[in-house]
Amino acid sequence: MKKTLFIALFFSAIIYSCGSSGNSESTESGSTTEQTPEEKQLAEGKGIGHFTNVETGAIDPTLQKKGMDLFQLKCTPCHRLTTEKLVGPGLKNVTVRRKPEWIMNMITNPATMTQRDSAAKGLLEICLVQMPNQQFTSDDEVRAILENFRNNDATK
Ligand code: HEC
Repeated sequence: MKKTLFIALFFSAIIYSCGSSGNSESTESGSTTEQTPEEKQLAEGKGIGHFTNVETGAIDPTLQKKGMDLFQLKCTPCHRLTTEKLVGPGLKNVTVRRKPEWIMNMITNPATMTQRDSAAKGLLEICLVQMPNQQFTSDDEVRAILENFRNNDATK
């Protein structure tokens, strides 16, 4: 009996070690040892793009106002600030379901996001339209849009 148990443990150890070495060779495995910075960022729910670390503090009213104007100008053909879906999802509570980095990467890098980020990919499967890149020239404008979303989610 003891001998059978020993043999069983011995073989499961071999299987386990084969399994783990197989994992580290695969790029899709989520293995922490060989993650590229991009894979790490995706795994952290920050999406993919050049926003890797966004600090948020008190909402800046000037920036928020600018963000509202930009949103009206560039985003309202497809989005509402309520839960209502238009071409794209309703954006109420987007700051609750996504990290700031994710939102800013989605705005500036939407085609890569819908290919590589699982949440964005899922949205494309539902909406069936690829969100276009709105070609923002400064990070400040993208941050302004984020401030407007934060403000929208702070008020019920
Ligand atoms: C032509 C329509 C269109 C325009 C214009 C557009 N979007 Fe989108 N947006 C989409 C679609 C469709 C999706 C879902 C992902 C996909 O299918 O590409 C999406 C997804 C999003 C998401 C993720 C929503 C969630 O639930 O996580 C955010 C955030 C977003 N858009 C922000 C913006 C902002 C900000 C603008 C303006 C600068 C904008 N979008 C302009 C169509 C659009």
